[in-house]
Amino acid sequence: MSELLAVLDFGSQYTQVIARRIRENHVYSKIYRYDTPVEVLQQDGVKAIILSGGPASVLSENAPLPDPKIFELNVPILGICYGLQLMGKLLGGVVENSTEREYGYGMLQRSQQSQIFNGLPETFKVWNSHGDRLVEMPPGFESIAVTENSPYAAIENRARKFFALQFHPEVVHTQHGKEIIGNYLKKVCGFRGDWVMSNYIESSIEQIREQVGDSKVILGLSGGVDSSVAAALIHRAIGDQLNCVFVDNGVLRKGEREAVESIFKDNFHMNLTTIDASEEFLSALADVEDPETKRKLIGNIFVEVFERTISQFGDAEFLAQGTLYPDIIESVPIDGNPAALIKSHHNVGGLPERMKLKLLEPLSELFKDEVRALGEELGLSKEMVWRQPFPGPGLAVRVMGDITREKLDILRNADVILIEEMRKANYYYKVWQSFCVFLPVRTVGVMGDERTYDYVIAIRCVESQDAMTADWAHLPYELLRTVSSRIINEVKHVNRVVYDISSKPPSTIEWE
Ligand code: XMP
Repeated sequence: MSELLAVLDFGSQYTQVIARRIRENHVYSKIYRYDTPVEVLQQDGVKAIILSGGPASVLSENAPLPDPKIFELNVPILGICYGLQLMGKLLGGVVENSTEREYGYGMLQRSQQSQIFNGLPETFKVWNSHGDRLVEMPPGFESIAVTENSPYAAIENRARKFFALQFHPEVVHTQHGKEIIGNYLKKVCGFRGDWVMSNYIESSIEQIREQVGDSKVILGLSGGVDSSVAAALIHRAIGDQLNCVFVDNGVLRKGEREAVESIFKDNFHMNLTTIDASEEFLSALADVEDPETKRKLIGNIFVEVFERTISQFGDAEFLAQGTLYPDIIESVPIDGNPAALIKSHHNVGGLPERMKLKLLEPLSELFKDEVRALGEELGLSKEMVWRQPFPGPGLAVRVMGDITREKLDILRNADVILIEEMRKANYYYKVWQSFCVFLPVRTVGVMGDERTYDYVIAIRCVESQDAMTADWAHLPYELLRTVSSRIINEVKHVNRVVYDISSKPPSTIEWE
C-alpha cells in the first residue's frame, strides 16, 4: 500500500469518523493505538499521520502520549483537538487547563493563507469540544485561524508540514470539514487519492495469509452481511483452510438455511458445515415467555453447539469474526485512559478465550457501507449485501410469549409474503427493517360463510439511520392492502393483520 495514512487513536469517539472521511477521499488509512512505536509505522510505510481527539487532558499525569519519534519521521502530521494540545505540549508550546469546556459551535476566522484551508471562505462555522486550551504556540508555528474563544483555533508549522486544529473537521457540524481533510490529504500530503475497495481486498488478502499461515480458520456464518462478507474475503485469501459453520437454531426465517447453503457451498464452494440444532434450541425455549431469558438461552446454546461443532476441527487456530470498526470502540469516559477502553466486542460470547483460538477480524477497520461495497466487490449478490438487519435471537423475539413450531411456521409464512411484496414494490431497500410479528391473540373473523377465531400478525416497518431512533415507515396504503390480504388469504390461522405505527423511542424496533 503506497499511500498509507496512520490515524493514531487517543480514544476519541470520532476516530472512526476521521478514518471514514479519509477513505471518502480515496486514501487508505489505518487506525493505530496512540502509542504505536514509530518502527511499526515505518515498517507499514506510513506517509502521513493524524492525531485524533480524545477525552483525556494532556496535562494529566497519565495522559496518553504518542511515541515522540513520530515528530522526527519527516511526514505531515495533523493534530485534531487533543491532537492539537499534544502537539502544543510536546513541541514546546504551552497548554493550560481551562475552567470551562468549550462545547458546540464557534465561528472560525481565517488569519493566514494555508494549504489546509485552500478554496474555503474567510469565515465558517466549526464544531468544538475541548477542555484544555493552547495558550502559547510551539516554536515554528503560526496561527492560521482564530475563533471567538481562541487565537489558536488552527496552527501550522509550514516547514515541517505540521497542522493542528482545535475544532473537529471530521464531524458534519463543521462546515467545509470534508474539504479541510481533503486539502490535508491532497495538497499537504500529496496523496493521489486512487485508493479503491479492490485495493483493500488485495491488502487484506496479503494480511490474512500472513497472519494465518498454514493454520485452519473457523467462522460462524450467520447469513448476515458481516459474517458473509468476512467469509467471502477470507475464503478468497486462504480457500479450503477456512471452515464455515452455520447453526440452524430453529428460529430462522423461511428459506434462510437453504439460501446460505446455496450461496456459500454451491456458489463459492466453501467448506460449510450446517448444524441442525433446532430441536435443542426449541426444546430449551419451550414455555419461555420472557424476552431476555429467550435471548440468554439462545446465546448460551449457540456457544455450546458451536463449541461442540468446532471441536471437530481440532487443529483450528483461528476464529474469524465479521466485527466492524464501530463494534470495536466502546464509549469512552471523559477522564479515562483510551487503552483500557478500546476492547474487542465478541459476537460469539467470549468463545475465542475459552477455546484458546486467535481472533481473525478482517473487517475491523470498516464501516457498514464499506463492508457492503467490499461484499459486492467480492461477488456477493445485492440481495445478500443489502439485506436488512436480523436479530441474533431471530424469530424467537418475534413470536410474542411462548414459542411453538406452529407459531413459528405461521410467522415464517407471513413474513415471506411481506418481504416479497416489499421487494416487488421497491420498498425493501428503502426501509431499515420490515418484518412480521406473531401475536398470540385470537380474534374473530369471517371467511366465506364461516366464523373464524384466529391469530393476529403485526407488520413492523421502520425507517432509521442507525437503529438508535426509528420512525414507522409511511408505506403506501396499496402496498399494505396487498400484504394484508395476501397474509390473511394465504397463511392459515391468521385472520387479522395490523400495522405498527409506533416510533422509537418510546417503542423499540423489535417487539420483544
Ligand atoms: P430494538 O428492538 O432495540 O432494536 O429497537 C434495535 C436493532 O437491534 C436489533 N436487535 C438485535 N440484534 N440481537 C441482535 O443481534 C438482539 O438481541 C437484538 N435485539 C434487537 C433489531 O433488529 C434492530 O435492528
